[in-house]
Amino acid sequence: MHTVFYDTKKQMVSLQGSRSTYAIKLYNSNLPMHMYWGPKIGSIKDPGTFFSHERAFAIRVKDRDTSFFIEEMHFEYGFSETGDFRIPAFSIRDGRNYPVTGPFETVFRIHERKPEIQGLPAARMKKDEKLESLEIVMSDTLSGLEISLHYTMFPEDDALVRNVSFHNRGDSAIRIEKAASMSLDILNRGFELLYLPGVWAGERRVMRTPLVPGSISFGSTRGISSHQFNPACALLEADTNEFRGSAYGFNLIYSGNFLTEFELNQDQNVRINMGIHPDSFEWQLEPEQRFDTPEAVLVYSDGGINGMSGQFHRFIQERIVPPGFKHRERPVLFNNWEATYFNFDEKVLKELTDGVSDLGIELFVLDDGWFEGRNSDETSLGDWYADRKKLPGGLRSFGEYVEKKGMLFGLWIEPEMISRRSELAQLHPDWHISNPGRPLSEGRNQLVLDLSRTEVCDFLIDTVDKLLSSALIQYVKWDMNRYITGFAALHLPVSRQKEVYHRYILGLYRIMKTITEKYPEVLFEGCAGGGGRFDLGILFFMPQFWTSDNTDAVSRIRIQYGTSIFYPPITMGAHVSIVPNHQVGRCTPLKMRACTAMSGNLGYELDLRRQKVEELEEIRQQIQFYKKYRRLIQFGRFIRLQSPFDTNEAAWMFLEKDGSDFIFFWFRLHAEAEKAVSKIRLSYLVPDKIYREDSFPLEYTGSELMHGGLPLPQVEGEYASLMFVFHGN
Ligand code: DGJ
Repeated sequence: MHTVFYDTKKQMVSLQGSRSTYAIKLYNSNLPMHMYWGPKIGSIKDPGTFFSHERAFAIRVKDRDTSFFIEEMHFEYGFSETGDFRIPAFSIRDGRNYPVTGPFETVFRIHERKPEIQGLPAARMKKDEKLESLEIVMSDTLSGLEISLHYTMFPEDDALVRNVSFHNRGDSAIRIEKAASMSLDILNRGFELLYLPGVWAGERRVMRTPLVPGSISFGSTRGISSHQFNPACALLEADTNEFRGSAYGFNLIYSGNFLTEFELNQDQNVRINMGIHPDSFEWQLEPEQRFDTPEAVLVYSDGGINGMSGQFHRFIQERIVPPGFKHRERPVLFNNWEATYFNFDEKVLKELTDGVSDLGIELFVLDDGWFEGRNSDETSLGDWYADRKKLPGGLRSFGEYVEKKGMLFGLWIEPEMISRRSELAQLHPDWHISNPGRPLSEGRNQLVLDLSRTEVCDFLIDTVDKLLSSALIQYVKWDMNRYITGFAALHLPVSRQKEVYHRYILGLYRIMKTITEKYPEVLFEGCAGGGGRFDLGILFFMPQFWTSDNTDAVSRIRIQYGTSIFYPPITMGAHVSIVPNHQVGRCTPLKMRACTAMSGNLGYELDLRRQKVEELEEIRQQIQFYKKYRRLIQFGRFIRLQSPFDTNEAAWMFLEKDGSDFIFFWFRLHAEAEKAVSKIRLSYLVPDKIYREDSFPLEYTGSELMHGGLPLPQVEGEYASLMFVFHGN
C-alpha cells in the first residue's frame, strides 16, 4: 500500500493516511516547508506558491534575495540562528564550536521500510510488513553533518511517526546541544493546548488553555517523564469538543527528560517542537557516528478528542505494546502493599493468599518488603534475594503455595535503585549516581544506580534474570521511586558529561529489552511511585502501568479520565483499596471503588481479612462480573462522555468494536441537593440497533441513545455510581 507520494516536478511529498494527509514541499532546494496537515485531501495541486512581502528588519537567507524571509515560512524542522527567530528545533556546533545554521542542501528519499532506530523503542512493524517512509536529508557541506528527518504514516490510525537522525560525515567532532524529535509550523486557527499536568497521587489532570503570543512549554528534567507533565498533548481548534472538531495529538516514545514547546509568533504561526530536554542534554558526534532521536507520534482526527483518543488507543495496542500482549486478557490481581506495607511474614502472606484465592483472584502480587532486611524504605535496595526471616522457604516455596491455590505469582522489584545500607553498596560503593565532592542527594532514602555505565546494566540484567528464573514468577511490577539529580558521569570525558541522562535511558531500555525478550510470557507492569513514568517508552516493553499511587475512587476517576485521553484503559493498573483511603482519607462505597477499578485492569489492594462477610461476597460478585465482561472492557472502544474536570459527574462507556454491546459507567463525585434530571448522550452506537439492559429493564434504539440520551435514575447520597450493561441486536 502506498502512503508516500512524491511529485518530483513540484518537489512535493504527501503522506496519506486513511483519513488524513500531511504534505511537505522542498522550497528553493534547501528549505523543507510544511504545507498541510489535516483531513485527507488526496492529490495536491498546490505548486507551493509562497507570497512574501518586503519587511523591515527581516533577515534574508541570501543577500539581496527578497523573494522570501525565513522568519515567515512554515518549516518541518525549525532552523537556528538563521534569521528565523522562533524557538529552534536544533542547536549544533561544528568542530570549531561555530553554530551550524542552515539552510542546507536538501533531498527527498523514499524508502520501502521504516528506518531502524538505535537503542530506542519505536513504533513496531509487523513481520515482513512494508510501509513506505520518507527521509528528508539536509546536508551541511561545511561540517559534513547530515540531518535526516524521517516520516512514516500508519494509515489505519492516521498516526504519523517522526524522528531525526544526525550523521557526522565530516572529519571533526560535532556537538549536538538540542535535537527535537519533531518540529512543525502551522497557521494558528485559534488553537488551544490540551495537556496533562499533575503531581504524585494527582497525575494527568486535564488542562486546556488558549495559545497566546509567546511560548508555552512543559517537560521534565527529573530523569523520568514525570508525574508533573506527561509527554502527551494535543492542539485543538477552539470549538473542538469530545465528539466534534479537529484534534492534533502528539506523544513521544521516550521515558526520560523531555521538552515540548509551542510558540505563537507575530505571523500567527505556531511552532511545535518535541524531543529530549536540551537543558540536560548534549551529544558529541564523532566522525562516522550517528545519533537518533526518540520517535514522536502525531495523530490527526476530525472526530474530536474521543476520535483522537481512539486512534492513539489502537495505535498503542497495535504498534507499541509487546505483541504477545496485544490480545492477551489481563488477570485480576491482588497486591499486598496497602494491606501490609513492610509488615508481613510468610504466615500473613499465606493467610492473605488463602483469603483471596476463593474470591476469584487470578494473580497474587508480593510487593515491596520481601527481600533481605527490607523492613522500611531505608535499606536493602540492590539485594534482590528473599528475606529468610519473612520467607523461610524463599520465593520458590511461597510461589508454589500461591500456585497451589490456583493463582499466578507476581513480584515487585525496583532494580534501578540502591540503598546506602545494602550489600550491593558495600560491594560497589561507586555504582550510584553522584557528584564527587558534593553532598549526596537522597530521595525516599535511596540512590540511583548509574545506568549510563555498561557494567552496571550488565549486572542488573544478570540479577533480574537470576531472580526471575529462581521461582515461577509470571508478573513483575517494575518500580522506580525517585527523581535523578546531580548526575556526574565518572566514566565519561569532560566533553561528554551532559550525555548522562540520555545514556541512562539507553541503558534502561537495553535492560528492559533483554529481560522482557527473555521472559516474553511474564506480564510486566511499569511503576514510578505510581504514574511517574507512564509513557510510550515504558509501554513498549511493559504493556501496563500502575496509574497512580492514589487509590481513592474520586481521585482515580479524574486520573484515569485524564490518562485515557492518550492511553487505553488496558494500559492502566487500577485497584480497589480500603476506606478510609490511605492517600486522602475519603470513604467511598465499595461499588464506586469497584466501578472505577473495573474501568482499568482490575486489582484489589486491601487487607481482605478485615472485610465483612457481605463485603467479601460483593467483591466475589464484582470479580465474576469483570471476568464476564473483561474482553469488552480491555479490548473494546473506550469513550468519554462526561468530564469530572468540568462537572460534578463523570461518565464513560466501553463499546464492542462492532457497535453491539456496551457497558456504561456513571459517577457523581459529591452529593448535591435538588439534582436536576439528567440524560447523557451516548456515541458511536449503531443507529437502528435495539439496545437492551436487562436488570432495570431498559430498551432504546442506538439513535435514541445518541440523540435523545440515556436518562439516569435519581441516586441519592455521596459518591454515587451506576453501571449498565446493554446488549444490542
Ligand atoms: C511505590 C508504588 O507506586 C507502590 O505501589 C508500592 O509498590 C511502593 N512503591 C512500594 O515501595
